[in-house]
Amino acid sequence: MSEISRPRQRNAINLEEKFSHFSEQWAPKVIAEMNDYQFKVVRLQGDFIWHSHAETDEAFLVVEGELRIDFRDGHVLLRQGELYVVARGVEHKPHAEQEVKLMLIEPRGVRNTGEAGGERTAPNDQWIQEF
Ligand code: NI
Repeated sequence: MSEISRPRQRNAINLEEKFSHFSEQWAPKVIAEMNDYQFKVVRLQGDFIWHSHAETDEAFLVVEGELRIDFRDGHVLLRQGELYVVARGVEHKPHAEQEVKLMLIEPRGVRNTGEAGGERTAPNDQWIQEF
């Protein structure tokens, strides 16, 4: 149980508004927390690296655009409004032909590149504060 007490949320969190504050790709931004989980928004385009997360599942919700998640034995195509949960330990590689806006839901502290690490690793806990 976390001992950090969060300030009470005052306003609705608007995803479109959150996306308006950044344009960089592959750099997840935290917009909310629930217990030990974080809700993050991210813009992706192109190919990520193969990786897996030994400790946790990872949820992808497409806010705008299309995301393909490649697996070693196939892929899943997600369109706007669609959700997919990658199971822990399963190798995956996100890919987007055009820029896609996503929400990620995962425990605090998960590394975006998972077990693979490397230069595509993004810093954690990058919050977009309320404006
Ligand atoms: Ni992942």
